[in-house]
Amino acid sequence: MKPTISTIGRFVDQEVTIGAWIANKRSSGKIAFLQLRDGTGFIQGVVVKSAVDESTFEQAKSLPQESALYVTGTVQADDRAPSGYEITVTGLKVLHKAKDYPITPKEHGTEFLMDHRHLWIRQPRQHAILTIRHEVIRATYEFFHQEGFTKVDPPILTGSSPEGTTNLFHTQYFDEDAYLSQSGQLYMEAAALAFNRVFSFGPTFRAEKSKTRRHLIEFWMIEPEMAFVEHEENLQIQEQYVTYIAESVLRNCPQALAALERDTSKLENIQAPFPRITYTDAVAWLQEQGFDVTWGDDFGSPEETAIAEHYSKPVFITHYPKAIKPFYMEPDPENDEVVLCADLIAPEGYGEVIGGSQRIADESLLEANLEKEGLSSEAYAWYLDLRRYGSVPHSGFGLGLERTIAWLSGTEHVRETIPFPRLLNRLYP
Ligand code: 4AD
Ligand code: MG
Repeated sequence: MKPTISTIGRFVDQEVTIGAWIANKRSSGKIAFLQLRDGTGFIQGVVVKSAVDESTFEQAKSLPQESALYVTGTVQADDRAPSGYEITVTGLKVLHKAKDYPITPKEHGTEFLMDHRHLWIRQPRQHAILTIRHEVIRATYEFFHQEGFTKVDPPILTGSSPEGTTNLFHTQYFDEDAYLSQSGQLYMEAAALAFNRVFSFGPTFRAEKSKTRRHLIEFWMIEPEMAFVEHEENLQIQEQYVTYIAESVLRNCPQALAALERDTSKLENIQAPFPRITYTDAVAWLQEQGFDVTWGDDFGSPEETAIAEHYSKPVFITHYPKAIKPFYMEPDPENDEVVLCADLIAPEGYGEVIGGSQRIADESLLEANLEKEGLSSEAYAWYLDLRRYGSVPHSGFGLGLERTIAWLSGTEHVRETIPFPRLLNRLYP
């Protein structure tokens, strides 16, 4: 394959030609430094006036940012360069002279950058975050493949609402009402009874009127589901999975982490096992800290952050009251008021990255819960079938990809962790 910036180390001391864009540049009378990017990475091209013909040097000095070119030159190993290499340019072929580029190295406001998201993703910081996104996805497939899971794809258009009816995206499905999937879970339960251990990876949609740094309207979820797995084993699989993706990012994304100035000691700390605290103990602890919470309240982000700050690792909050959790969660056999569930809260204020639980295996209990929720047993007949034909204990969870990336990359807001975020007031670009 022909060289790219990411593979240029294979071509040290050789002459190569790469397609690239000018990300930035500076020049003096005799030398021009081109900050080149080709999408796979960034590298400096050095153009020495005395070593090239006059027009090449003039182009190097005058071409605007984001102009596209073929750059020919010799690859030099250079320990001081972030990429480890540099190109001594011998020739340039201009493919396109760019117009005045709106995103300069200067500071821009967030709304301006979001309006130019289609260009903003070229910038080193954004490129680094999306590189980490790729690595988390890659490591996810690798982990579940190694652990014997089968990938199963649940539908996007559905007639059911696993996470409640308040934030559904409604659409028309010919003569029927349909919704964009909030979670593939119920379908993954069916898949688990067919394939034992399964995972999905796909977009999910929540018409949430929340404008916070943790909420997207369209976000991607990884949803594993496992037959013959109960609550405690579910948590063990989660902590192994999260440890695996943190280790993969540390190992495979050193340049991206450096570009983001991420404190990697925080990632080295992400090692299973993770601490566990019950909801009931968490309420007592929060009350001691002066929080105004009573048993039965759901936690908001200040409560979650306080609990997470108490630990240096991600923490599982387990056994929430059943009244504030979805209808499908298995009650705790020791206390019918709480369910066998856990939320995994990331440290450093990144909030809940996983929600999961053991699922109800008993047909009549599930049917009663559906009825309480006002959900029609007709629409859920297929889901009840799973409790009629070989029902077994089973558990699963959903990891929010964007929140996980925000955490691992040290990015304040989830809008920068997805290529084209869908937010409360944003459908463009
Ligand atoms: O806790 P949630 O709502 O759980 C479920 O949907 C389960 N059915 C998953 C399962 O058991 N298969 O969502 C799971 C995760 C959250 O922990 C969070 O990380 C993320 O999805 N998430 C969001 N991420 C970005 N924007 C939003 N609006 C999100 N809502 C949930
Ligand atoms: Mg949740």
